[in-house]
Amino acid sequence: MEPRQGEPQYNFVIVQFFAIMATVYLVVGALVGVYIAAELAWPALNFDIPYLTFGRLRPLHTNAVIFAFGGCTLFATSYYIVQRTCYTRLWSDKLAWITFWGWNAVIVSAVVTLPLGITSGKEYAELEWPLDILIAVVWLSYMFNFVMTVASRKVSHIYVANWFFMAMQVMITYLHVVNSLAIPVGLFKSYSIFAGPQDAMVQWWYGHNAVGFFLTAGFLGIMYYFVPKQAGRPIFSYRLSVIHFWTLIFGYVWIGGHHLQYTALPDWSGSLGAAISLAMIIPSWGGAVNGMLTLSGAWDKLRTDYTLRFLIVSLAFYAMSTFEGPLMSIRTVNALSHYTDWTVGHVHSGALGWVAMVSMGAIYHLVPRLWNTELYSTKLVNTHFWMTTISIVFYISAMWVSGIMQGLMWRAYDEQGTLMYSFAESVAAMHPYYALRWFGGTLFLLGTIVMLFNVLMTVTRARTAPALAHASA
Ligand code: HEM
Ligand code: HEM
Repeated sequence: MEPRQGEPQYNFVIVQFFAIMATVYLVVGALVGVYIAAELAWPALNFDIPYLTFGRLRPLHTNAVIFAFGGCTLFATSYYIVQRTCYTRLWSDKLAWITFWGWNAVIVSAVVTLPLGITSGKEYAELEWPLDILIAVVWLSYMFNFVMTVASRKVSHIYVANWFFMAMQVMITYLHVVNSLAIPVGLFKSYSIFAGPQDAMVQWWYGHNAVGFFLTAGFLGIMYYFVPKQAGRPIFSYRLSVIHFWTLIFGYVWIGGHHLQYTALPDWSGSLGAAISLAMIIPSWGGAVNGMLTLSGAWDKLRTDYTLRFLIVSLAFYAMSTFEGPLMSIRTVNALSHYTDWTVGHVHSGALGWVAMVSMGAIYHLVPRLWNTELYSTKLVNTHFWMTTISIVFYISAMWVSGIMQGLMWRAYDEQGTLMYSFAESVAAMHPYYALRWFGGTLFLLGTIVMLFNVLMTVTRARTAPALAHASA
């Protein structure tokens, strides 16, 4: 896109590439999600082919949605925001391209190795050691480029979104390196240097902070830029955003223990995790309220601005999942929820409701500005919004019912003190809810296809008929 008069020559081409890939990977990740959801409802769908079994496709789904879709969204938005808020071009175009091609190489390698069963067995960190090294190199090149861009800014102030991105970059480097420490025994196999409870503790310190810093801090950076921009108003309270930042990053690093209640870990570590988890309601809700109140006095915009709807509803889901999470960390609640679909429901209210919806809003905001045009169809944005919202309600309600039912069935005793239900009976009882989740997921997937179509049509129209281009950034 042509810079406006007096504006630096921003590098928006890299943002365009990442934005398109984020949209493509969302469709792919959701497609795999729908397939594994179908496998849970109708297990014959694995056709006895090892590459298609649930155990191999599940990590493919989580890697595709978190790292391929989530990662590309974060790269696109952070490279855009840092340039616009620092009023300067990216420090190095070369490093930006290394991020793009390197990250995509990691994703393609994951698509090949995970179905083949090549895995380190650590959740959200399944890729084997050569890929871990590649991830570290790519991530460091991204972080270095970002920090150097901030350092070469033309304004004295560092906008709060950049603080969230930098916290994510520092913590993800630390988490990835420590959790991936392993002894290789071949090109495709390694063993963690940690053992037993230490391994579990390091894994969940990583696991929760992947949620806290990758899926939350980074996406809050997105929220703090795109909500005010799309609403055309300053953030409700800048001071609250700074308090939100410091309390959030201080709190998150302590709470991994809540994933390991009632395990070989000392009780106090789970209780500490639960106590700080409960305290995390305060910064999380502070942030959600800050984003929502940005609209105060202009709520009517939600009637006509469908992109804004995505952004604001994502904050409602953020508030909901950050209330539910602390609740689930309490030991007595966790005794019921752990190992059940309640956790899966919680994950997707955060992942679909918060992460995916805020990303969709950001991409709909970005695309017309990057290609200097208007969206192909705002009606389709509205259609997509409703498909997504309804699909999430289906997904998470089905998982709440099945999760609580599972938990109650597993702990039900008769008068003689024997279990009332066998495990297989609880699996059979889940069938209708798994079918419902599959239906919700399919609706979500169809919505992502509508989005991809809209984005591609916008880009094609901008390229073939530049005369139509008239939107401003
Ligand atoms: C079409 C939409 C989607 C469907 C149908 C779907 C389906 C599933 C299924 C069936 C599982 C396995 C649950 C189990 O092990 O019992 C799963 C796990 C997971 N999905 Fe999705 N998913 C979708 C979208 C997403 C998105 C967009 C994200 C993230 C941005 C996401 C993140 C995750 C995570 C983190 C897990 C692991 C959960 C855990 O370990 O408890 N999913 N998904
Ligand atoms: C203050 C905020 C939050 C707290 C305190 C929290 C707490 C929890 C707890 C207690 C569990 C269940 C652990 C278990 O029984 O195994 C859990 C699971 C999970 N949460 Fe949250 N949560 C929060 C927000 C979020 C958000 C916003 C997301 C998504 C963007 C999210 C994603 C996940 C994932 C992926 C898991 C499943 C991990 C696994 O077992 O694979 N959480 N969370």
